[in-house]
Amino acid sequence: MVCLLLGPVTSQESSSPSSSSSSPPCPASCLCARDSGTVTCRGDTEVPGEVPDWTSALILRGNNISNLPRAAFSPNGTELDALVTLSLSRNGIRAIEAGAFLGLPRLHLLDLSHNLLASISAGAFHGLPELRSLYLNDSLLAPATAHLSRALATAGGLRHLHRLDLAGNRLTSIPMERLDIYNLHTLVLVNNSIESIGGENVSSLYRQWRVRLYLSLNPFRCNCDLEAFYHWLRNSSQCPDSDLLLCSEPEARRGTPLKSLRAEDVDCVNENLEAVSYVFLGIVLALIGVVFLMVLYLNREGIKRWLNNIREACRDQMEVYHYRYEQDSDPRLANVAV
Ligand SMILES: *[C@@H]1O[C@H](CO)[C@@H](O)[C@H](O)[C@H]1NC(C)=O
Ligand SMILES: *[C@@H]1O[C@H](CO)[C@@H](O)[C@H](O)[C@H]1NC(C)=O
Ligand SMILES: *[C@@H]1O[C@H](CO)[C@@H](O)[C@H](O)[C@H]1NC(C)=O
Ligand SMILES: *[C@@H]1O[C@H](CO)[C@@H](O)[C@H](O)[C@H]1NC(C)=O
Ligand SMILES: *[C@@H]1O[C@H](CO)[C@@H](O)[C@H](O)[C@H]1NC(C)=O
Ligand SMILES: *[C@@H]1O[C@H](CO)[C@@H](O)[C@H](O)[C@H]1NC(C)=O
Repeated sequence: MVCLLLGPVTSQESSSPSSSSSSPPCPASCLCARDSGTVTCRGDTEVPGEVPDWTSALILRGNNISNLPRAAFSPNGTELDALVTLSLSRNGIRAIEAGAFLGLPRLHLLDLSHNLLASISAGAFHGLPELRSLYLNDSLLAPATAHLSRALATAGGLRHLHRLDLAGNRLTSIPMERLDIYNLHTLVLVNNSIESIGGENVSSLYRQWRVRLYLSLNPFRCNCDLEAFYHWLRNSSQCPDSDLLLCSEPEARRGTPLKSLRAEDVDCVNENLEAVSYVFLGIVLALIGVVFLMVLYLNREGIKRWLNNIREACRDQMEVYHYRYEQDSDPRLANVAV
C-alpha cells in the first residue's frame, strides 16, 4: 500500500503538490466504477474533459465525436497514467489530429473501430509507447487509407504494437512500409480488397516470421502475380486462415481455394515461356512463308514453264475427254429419243 501511494505522490510533488489529493469527479454524462477502474460515457458530442485519475478503462462507445484534437484526453497537460484501455468505437469520428492521444503513456489498447475516418494526421499516434493493440476495423474511408502508413510509421512510436486490426477497410495492399519497426504478432486484413501480395512484401513477411496475417474475404487474382505469395502460403505457417482464401479472378478460377492451385497455375516462367513460344512459332511461320515466296520468285521462269506444261497436259486431257463425250452422247441421245 505504501509503495503504491509513494509512486504518484513523488511524481506530482514537482508540478503541483496542492492538487495531489483531489482527483477530478466523475463527469456528469459518465458512469464511474471505482473498483474496476472503468468509466463509461454516453450521449456526448465531445470527449469528456477530465475523468478521475484512477480511470484504467475509458469507454466512449457509440457517441457522436467527429474530431479528435491534439491531447483530446488530457487537455490540461495532466497525464492519465492509469489509463490502459480506450474505446472510441462507433463514434462517427472523421479526423484524428496530430498528438490526439498525448498524455496516455500507459495506453495498451486503442479501439477506433467502426468510425468514418477520412483524415489521419501523420502524428496521430504520437506518444503511445506502450500501445499493444490498435483496432481500426471497418473504420477507414478512402482518403484515410492513404494517410495510414505514414501515421503508423510515427518515429519510434509504436514499437510495442502487437495486434493491428484493419478488417473491412477496402484496402488494396498492406498499409505499412515496413514491419520491423513494430513487435507485430497479429495483422488482420480480413474482408478488404487485396488482389495479391507482391514479392517484396512476401520477403518482409518471411523475415518477420512471428507475424500472423489473416487474409480471408479478399478478392485474390489468381494469375502469375501471385507466385511468391502462393509459395509463402504453402510453406510458411504465417497465415492461420489460409484454407479460406479464394480466387475471385480470373472468371474460370472464381471460388477456387488458393491452396488448391497447382504451382504451374501461378508459374510466371511457364506463363512467359508460353507467350515466348507463341511469338517464336509466329516468327518461324513467317520465315517459312518468306522462304516459300522467295523460292517462287526465283523459280518464276521454271514455274511458268511448269504451269504451261500442266495447262497443255490438261488441254490434251480435255480434248480426249471431249472427244469421248461426243462419242458417248450420240447413243444416249438416241435412247432418249426412243
Ligand atoms: C482542465 O480543463 C478543463 C476544461 O477541459 C477546465 O474546466 C479545468 O478548469 C482545467 N483544470 C485545470 C486544473 O487546469
Ligand atoms: C452529431 O453531432 C453533429 C454536431 O456536432 C450533428 O450535426 C449530427 O447531427 C450529430 N449526429 C448524430 C447521429 O447525432
Ligand atoms: C472489429 O472490432 C470489434 C471491436 O469493436 C471487435 O470485437 C471485432 O472482433 C473486430 N474484428 C472484426 C474482424 O470484426
Ligand atoms: C466487409 O466490410 C464491409 C465494409 O468494407 C462491411 O460492410 C461488410 O459487412 C463486411 N463483411 C463481413 C462479412 O464482415
Ligand atoms: C509492400 O510492398 C510495397 C510495394 O511493393 C512497398 O512499398 C512496401 O514497403 C512493402 N511493405 C512491406 C511491409 O513489405
Ligand atoms: C517455398 O517453396 C518453394 C517452392 O515450393 C521453394 O522453392 C522455396 O525454397 C520454399 N521456401 C522456403 C522458405 O521454404
